[in-house]
Amino acid sequence: MRQPLVAGNWKMNGSRASIEVLLSGLKSGVQAVKVAEVAVCAPAVYLADVQSQLSGTAIAWGGQDLSTEASGAYTGEIAASMLNDFGCKYVIVGHSERRAYHGESDETVAKKYKAARAAGLVPILCVGETLEEREQGITEEVVARQLDAVIELEGVDALADGVVAYEPVWAIGTGKTATPEQAQDVHAFLRSRVAARSEAVAAGLRILYGGSMKPGNAAELLAKADIDGGLIGGASLSSDDFLGICTAANS
Ligand code: 13P
Repeated sequence: MRQPLVAGNWKMNGSRASIEVLLSGLKSGVQAVKVAEVAVCAPAVYLADVQSQLSGTAIAWGGQDLSTEASGAYTGEIAASMLNDFGCKYVIVGHSERRAYHGESDETVAKKYKAARAAGLVPILCVGETLEEREQGITEEVVARQLDAVIELEGVDALADGVVAYEPVWAIGTGKTATPEQAQDVHAFLRSRVAARSEAVAAGLRILYGGSMKPGNAAELLAKADIDGGLIGGASLSSDDFLGICTAANS
């Protein structure tokens, strides 16, 4: 059985003050979350605060990006070992915003996946098509290429140490959620692609859905056979909304 994972991606939002309020709300409500594992991915500068507030709780935390390199002259970059230093369990790699605004290629994302794994972090690999790509009917081709980059660099077993998040770009921050059927189709496709190389890795792989997931639509998405949790943007900035999604995984 795959334990569902509900992970918040705060993106570039919040302040020390607002994060303290958000985390205290999450800490007091997390006991009601019986089934899902819960995590938050914070801006790197707040990870020390997150660590001190979440240590000893049921909530894990992580970064939103990392360098492909282990250390050295890479101004502004954050190494996997630095995320480790602040107790991170997870790190998001290849979010569509990084791909679109920072030119991250599939190869770069695969190297980030490798760097995370080498440091013992659990990478959350984001894949997803744009609206144009969906309309062209090439959704499967796009997500296959994004997934295959990791498999080609590291082998299919590398996916046993990570999580995949299907995030259709057209559903991110737009209020347009993929229907449960649309999401399930892509999740099943991704799992079958992994299964073609390793049935065991495919069976254990958690594939999250991301894109305008809210307390009101989470239960029907999470009810689908191949949807193993969510990667939550906007709704993760409110403890009530985020916990609402986490508890939707209970039923
Ligand atoms: P929204 O939940 O705001 O659509 O963002 C999804 C996302 O990009 C999570 O990584």
